[in-house]
Amino acid sequence: MKELVIPQLFVSICLLVNGFVSCQRPAVVNLGAIFTFDSVIGKAAKPAMEAAVSDINNDTRILNGTKLNLLMDDVNCSVFLGSVGAFQLVEEEVVAIIGPQSSGIAHMISAIANGLQVPLISYAATDPTLSALQFPFFIRTTQSDSYQMAAMADLVDFFRWREVIAIVVDDEYGRNGIGALGEELNKKRAKISYKLFLSNQLDESEVMDKLNKSKLLGPRVYVVHVNPDPRLRIFTVARKLQMMTDNYTWLATDWLSATLDSFPPTKKASLGFLQGVVGLRQHTPESSQKRAFMSRWKGMQRKGSASSELNTYGLQAYDTVWIVAYAIERFLDEHKNITFSFNSKLVDMKTSGLQIEKLKVFTGGNDLLDIILQTNFTGLSGQVQFNQDQNVFSGGYDVINIDQVSIRTVGYWSNVSGLSLSPQDARKGEQNSYSRVDQRLQNITWPGGKTERPRGWIIAADERPLRIGVPNRASFVEFVTEAHGSHRIEGYCIDVFLKARELVPYDVPYMFEPFGDGLSNPRYDDLVQMVAADVFDAAVGDIAILTNRTKMVDFSQPYASTGLVIVAPIRNSKSSAWVFLQPFTVEMWCAIAASFVMIAVVIWILEHRVNDEFRGPPKKQLVTMLMFSFSTLFKTNQETTKSSLGRLVMVVWLFVLMVITASYTASLSSILTVQQLSSPITDLFL
Ligand SMILES: *[C@@H]1O[C@H](CO)[C@@H](O)[C@H](O)[C@H]1NC(C)=O
Ligand SMILES: *[C@@H]1O[C@H](CO)[C@@H](O)[C@H](O)[C@H]1NC(C)=O
Ligand SMILES: *[C@@H]1O[C@H](CO)[C@@H](O)[C@H](O)[C@H]1NC(C)=O
Ligand SMILES: *[C@@H]1O[C@H](CO)[C@@H](O)[C@H](O)[C@H]1NC(C)=O
Ligand SMILES: *[C@@H]1O[C@H](CO)[C@@H](O)[C@H](O)[C@H]1NC(C)=O
Ligand SMILES: *[C@@H]1O[C@H](CO)[C@@H](O)[C@H](O)[C@H]1NC(C)=O
Ligand SMILES: *[C@@H]1O[C@H](CO)[C@@H](O)[C@H](O)[C@H]1NC(C)=O
Ligand SMILES: *[C@@H]1O[C@H](CO)[C@@H](O)[C@H](O)[C@H]1NC(C)=O
Ligand SMILES: *[C@@H]1O[C@H](CO)[C@@H](O)[C@H](O)[C@H]1NC(C)=O
Ligand SMILES: *[C@@H]1O[C@H](CO)[C@@H](O)[C@H](O)[C@H]1NC(C)=O
Repeated sequence: MKELVIPQLFVSICLLVNGFVSCQRPAVVNLGAIFTFDSVIGKAAKPAMEAAVSDINNDTRILNGTKLNLLMDDVNCSVFLGSVGAFQLVEEEVVAIIGPQSSGIAHMISAIANGLQVPLISYAATDPTLSALQFPFFIRTTQSDSYQMAAMADLVDFFRWREVIAIVVDDEYGRNGIGALGEELNKKRAKISYKLFLSNQLDESEVMDKLNKSKLLGPRVYVVHVNPDPRLRIFTVARKLQMMTDNYTWLATDWLSATLDSFPPTKKASLGFLQGVVGLRQHTPESSQKRAFMSRWKGMQRKGSASSELNTYGLQAYDTVWIVAYAIERFLDEHKNITFSFNSKLVDMKTSGLQIEKLKVFTGGNDLLDIILQTNFTGLSGQVQFNQDQNVFSGGYDVINIDQVSIRTVGYWSNVSGLSLSPQDARKGEQNSYSRVDQRLQNITWPGGKTERPRGWIIAADERPLRIGVPNRASFVEFVTEAHGSHRIEGYCIDVFLKARELVPYDVPYMFEPFGDGLSNPRYDDLVQMVAADVFDAAVGDIAILTNRTKMVDFSQPYASTGLVIVAPIRNSKSSAWVFLQPFTVEMWCAIAASFVMIAVVIWILEHRVNDEFRGPPKKQLVTMLMFSFSTLFKTNQETTKSSLGRLVMVVWLFVLMVITASYTASLSSILTVQQLSSPITDLFL
C-alpha cells in the first residue's frame, strides 16, 4: 500500500495546517518513464532524463520543496512488456508518463493512459497516426513522421525522382510512416512503387533476400525507415550485395542520424561504406544552452553515467522532463494537491486476480494535460510549443549527406520554405508558400562518389518489352513492311524510329509486331484502335494524323509532312539564246513596240510647233521622232521637250517604262533561276 502513502500523508498535513497557513505541496511527485534502456534512443535519453530530474530537484525556482521522482521502466522494445510496465507505473500513482519510445507501445498504452487520465508525453514515438483524436492523452515532444515524410517527399521531388522503394519495419511505426510518405509523394506526383517490409529483428538473411530481389526492380531510390539500428544491418547487407554503388540511391529517415550521432568518434571512422547516403535529422537550433549541455554530457561520459554520444532524442528527452516539471509546478499552483480516485468500473471487477481494481484515476489529469499543451518553453531542442494535434511545432529537418566518413549538413527543410541552405523558422511565414524553383541544397556526394544526380531507376529485369505495332504493307513498302522471307521489319518509318530511339539515353526494350497479312494494306484505323485498346503499346508507320485518331491516341511530331500536293511536270526551259524574249508574250512585245511609236507621234505633234529640234525636212523629223521615243528606254533623250503637255506625257511614259523594265527583269531572273512547274490547276477551292 506504499502508493497510497503520499496523498494520505499530504492530506493529513493539509488538515493539520489548514487553519494556520496555506496548504503545503506534496513532498514527492512521481513521474513515469517507459522506454528501452539498451537502445540507441534509450542510451541517450536515460542519462538526459536523469540529468533533467537532478537539475529540477536542485533548482529552487521550480517545484521548490517538492521532489520529482522519476520511475523508469525498461520495456525492451516489447509491446507486451510496455503495457505491463504502464500498469506498474500507474499503480505507483504517476502524474504523467514520459515515453514510450516506440510507436507500437504508444498505441497500446495510450489506451491505458486515456482510461486512467495520465498524460503520455513521448519524445520518440513518431508514428503520425498517434496524433489522432483517438489518443487525447498522447502528447509528442518530437516531430511527427508526417512532417518528416513531407521533407522526404520534397527531397525526392527535388531530385526529380518519380518512383521509390520503401524499406520499412513491419509495425505501426513503419507502416504508418510510409503511409504518410505515400501521401506526401502523391502530392508531388511520385509514388512508392514497392514496399519491402522487414521484421523488427532485422534478420540478416531476410534482409539479404529482400534486397537481392529488389535489384531486379526498376526504381533505384531506396527510402529506409526502420528503427535505429547500431549495427546498420541494412547498409552492411546492401554493401555485400554491391548495392552501395553509383547505380543506387539511399535516403534514410532520422533513425540514421540518431544512430550515427550516438556513435563514439572511433566508430564513426568506420562509416566508409555509408558513402553517399542522404538522411534527415531533426533540426535543433544552436544555442549556448545546448553547447553547455553537450560539454556537460562529455563529463557524464567520463564519469560513466552516459554510455553513448548525445543525439536529438536525448535533447528532446531532457526538455520533456522540464516541460512536465513546469506543468506540475503550474498545476500545483492552481490545484494545490494531486489526488487519485478509484474508478468505479474497475472496482466492480474485483473478481479478477490481477487486482485491477487497485488502479486509480488521476483526477487532475485533464487539467495537467491542458497545462502541458499551453507550454511555451525554450529548451535544448529549441522553442517548444504544441499545436492542435498535440505535437510539438515542427522545427524542421537538417538534410545530411555522408561523405567519406564525415556527416555533412547539406541543407535544411522546413514546411514553410522547403529545402534551403539556411535554417528557417517554421513558425514564421505562410503555409505552403514555397515553390519548387526556390529549393536549394548544397552539392551532394552520392554512392560511388559521384556528384551528379543519379537517375534513380533502371529498366527492370523482368520489364515486358514494348509491343510496337507496325503495318505490314503490301504497297509503298518503302515506308514500312515486313521483309519477305526474313521476319525483319524495315522501311523509312522504322529507320526514323530507330534513330529517335538512339537519342533516348537509356535502353528501351521493344519488339515489333506486324499488323496485317502483307497481301493487302491493313486498315490503319484498326491499328490505331488497337493501340488505344492496349493490344499494342505504340505503333510505328506511315499513319496519317487524323482528327478522330488524335482523340484516341497521341501522335509524335509528324516527320513526313503531307497535306495536299499537286504533282506537276517541270516546264522544260532550255536556256536558249532566245530566253530573253520569254518574259513577255508576242502580243506584249507588239504592244510595247506600238506604244513607242505612239509616244513618238504624240510627242512630235505636241512639240514640232514650238520646238526647233523637231523641225526640218520630213525625213529628219521622222528620224528625230523615232530616236526620241526609243532612247527614252535607256537614257534621257537628247531633244528636250518644251511644251508643258509634252513634259506631262513624258512623265507618265517614263513611269510606264519603269514598270515594264522592272517586270521584265524580275520575270527573266525567275525564268533563269527557279524551275517552273506548270499545272492546269491554278487554285484549290476547298
Ligand atoms: C545544485 O545547484 C547548485 C547551484 O545552484 C550547484 O552548486 C550544485 O553543484 C548543484 N548540485 C547538483 C547535484 O547538481
Ligand atoms: C523555497 O522554499 C524555501 C522554504 O521551503 C524558501 O525558504 C525559499 O525561499 C523558496 N525558494 C524560492 C525560490 O521560492
Ligand atoms: C531484450 O529482448 C531481447 C530479445 O528480444 C533479449 O535477447 C534481451 O536479452 C532482452 N534484454 C533485456 C535487458 O531484457
Ligand atoms: C541474388 O539473386 C540472384 C538471382 O536473382 C542469385 O543468383 C544470387 O545468388 C543472389 N545473391 C544472394 C547473395 O543471395
Ligand atoms: C550501373 O548500371 C549500368 C547499366 O545499368 C552498368 O553498366 C554499370 O556497370 C553499373 N555500375 C555499377 C557500379 O554497378
Ligand atoms: C484536493 O483535491 C480535491 C479534488 O481534486 C479537492 O476536492 C480538495 O479540495 C483538494 N484539497 C485541498 C486542500 O486543496
Ligand atoms: C512564447 O514565448 C516567447 C518568448 O519566450 C514569446 O515571444 C511568445 O510570444 C510566447 N508565445 C506565446 C503563444 O505565449
Ligand atoms: C507547418 O508547420 C507549422 C508548425 O508546425 C504548422 O502550424 C503549419 O500548419 C505547417 N504547415 C503546413 C503547410 O503543413
Ligand atoms: C556544385 O556542383 C556544380 C556543378 O556540378 C559546380 O559548378 C559547383 O562548383 C559545385 N559547388 C560546390 C560548392 O562544390
Ligand atoms: C475516322 O474518320 C474516317 C473518315 O471520316 C473514317 O473513315 C474512320 O472510320 C474514322 N475512324 C475511326 C476510328 O472512327
